[in-house]
Amino acid sequence: MVQAAVMGYGVVGSGVVEVLMEHKDSIARRTKEEIGIKYILDIRDFPDSPFQDKFTKSFEDILNDDEVKVVAEVMGGVNPAYDFTKRLLESGKSVVTSNKELVATKGAELLRIAKEHNVNYLFEASVGGGIPIIRPLSQCLAANDVIEIAGILNGTTNFILTKMIRENMSFEDALAMAQKLGYAERNPAADVEGHDAGRKISILASLVYGKHVYPQYVHTQGITKITLDDVRYASAWGGVIKLIGQVKRLDDDTLDITVEPMFISRDSQLANVDDVFNGILVRGDSTGDVVFYGKGAGKLPTASAVAADIIDCVKHLNKRKYLDWADGDESIVKPYEETVYPVYIRVSADCDKKQLFDKAAELFTDVKEIVRSGSDNNEFAFTTGDMKAADIEKAAASFEEWGAKVVSKIRIADL
Ligand code: HSE
Repeated sequence: MVQAAVMGYGVVGSGVVEVLMEHKDSIARRTKEEIGIKYILDIRDFPDSPFQDKFTKSFEDILNDDEVKVVAEVMGGVNPAYDFTKRLLESGKSVVTSNKELVATKGAELLRIAKEHNVNYLFEASVGGGIPIIRPLSQCLAANDVIEIAGILNGTTNFILTKMIRENMSFEDALAMAQKLGYAERNPAADVEGHDAGRKISILASLVYGKHVYPQYVHTQGITKITLDDVRYASAWGGVIKLIGQVKRLDDDTLDITVEPMFISRDSQLANVDDVFNGILVRGDSTGDVVFYGKGAGKLPTASAVAADIIDCVKHLNKRKYLDWADGDESIVKPYEETVYPVYIRVSADCDKKQLFDKAAELFTDVKEIVRSGSDNNEFAFTTGDMKAADIEKAAASFEEWGAKVVSKIRIADL
């Protein structure tokens, strides 16, 4: 029997214990080893849990027990998870995690430490919940040059947008429901402000491009400013609004990396990814588009990915799985102001649509009106052709100086 430990008995941690216990026999058959859980670390008490003999409040119990070979860190946050993970890897134990914040901020360092100590640091659950994406990118698609990854990477915001669009539910009610279902982060601002998706795209970019792309290099914008009117204009245009994490390699070898709400054409493979589901599109030079789809948050989907990493570590106890990236710096990323894309803009002013159209056509390129029944007469919504982000900002500022209010500005995706 190989002994494991679970650090953190929250939504995901309790799911990991449940999955490992319930599938004990089938896992043992596949792994050719039984996996035991010797410790569960948590500072809280769980008097009703059937696992009383396993709970500890002392990290040292796990660190100093030579029988424990694999540890699941499902505590979340950087501290104390970073210190614990480092010490476990240094002591020769493999660590698996769903902690995207830690992987996104300290991944290069922790992978290096794992390599130096001939152990594994695996994080399949950190992106896409139950969807396999880390292994496919690092193994199955390894022969490709990945040109682009674009995904709906946050279940909570996708759930909220879907409820708003389909059921006219308020933002607050939909968020409360996502929290109740265990999808949201401890601080849901990380979901709705786009930081969670930012961490995930930074992990995928680091994996594919071989250099750590830190979350602070990712242009990040959440969904808090999206209104039902924008949703209706997106529909009139022929699509939907989704929070997209996207990274593209540009001709000069820099990366265009962003998380922001985008207009997605109804024909896109990501347009019908709804509720808590995530969808990740990987554009490879040999494969073309490959799409991964499944539940991106929630107890058992995420626990399933963590448990699979534990199994993989048990199968590779004295071998390293190749998973690696070097440290990186900001020079790998194209400054957002220089990136180029088309945009949807909605303006209002005390004048008619014709005057607004003429002014828009003077300031922006390739202006096309979006016609929507029931729209306000003093309002004008349009799409542009490709423009530099800095030029879009300048044109929007000129529109405001002229007397219009720029109500919305949303990127249009090429997906
Ligand atoms: N809060 C995250 C989400 C959990 O909603 O996607 C899974 O990473």
